[in-house]
Amino acid sequence: MQFFIDTANLAQIREAYEMGILDGVTTNPSLMAKEGIKGKDNIFAHYKAICDIVDDKVSAEVIATDFEGMVREGEELYEIDPKKIVIKIPMTRDGVKAIKYFSDRDMRTNCTLVFSAGQALLAAKAGATYVSPFIGRLDDVGTDGLNLIEQIVQIYDNYGYTTEVLAASVRHTMHLIKCAEIGADVVTCPLNVITSLLNHPLTDNGLATFLADHKKLNG
Ligand code: E4P
Repeated sequence: MQFFIDTANLAQIREAYEMGILDGVTTNPSLMAKEGIKGKDNIFAHYKAICDIVDDKVSAEVIATDFEGMVREGEELYEIDPKKIVIKIPMTRDGVKAIKYFSDRDMRTNCTLVFSAGQALLAAKAGATYVSPFIGRLDDVGTDGLNLIEQIVQIYDNYGYTTEVLAASVRHTMHLIKCAEIGADVVTCPLNVITSLLNHPLTDNGLATFLADHKKLNG
């Protein structure tokens, strides 16, 4: 399973990368705004800074909502770092068309804001590299987000689609672990969800005992 970090915060991206477990980064316009990044030049410079930290797979989202605008913007974002940028495109009619456009040109895409199996099927048919179903936001409205991941994994498996299931809006460790059980290809989540995986009181107690026993004889 691949781990992406869902943030535009450079310090957190660096921290996850330095742990040696990071496969990629997802951002969105809200996450960029949270970091106070505004204006095209600053936004592009920020994407470049993210690309300079990680090895690959940096999702950069288009703002345009029409096909021509998405293509124009996607191509500009791609040029920031053609080896690392994944063009993130919303699940709309024009978005599907833009995904097909980029897929035909071997440019990677991440189809975002996916909330149903039908949408995921369209994204795969258009040739998306990744599909991003939002688990947490479905849970928020009383629908089991993990069920959707299960459904999409099954559908893609039935037909051998190569689109990778990127579980997004992952809010806690059990989301992440359940996604791993189901077989999602990727999870994207905040840094604290990743670092929470480290924690177990038996590990802490065990280590304290080992060190204390060592100290008794070795000072
Ligand atoms: C996905 O790429 C989105 O950036 C993200 O996972 C949304 O998560 P949220 O619902 O916690 O905002």
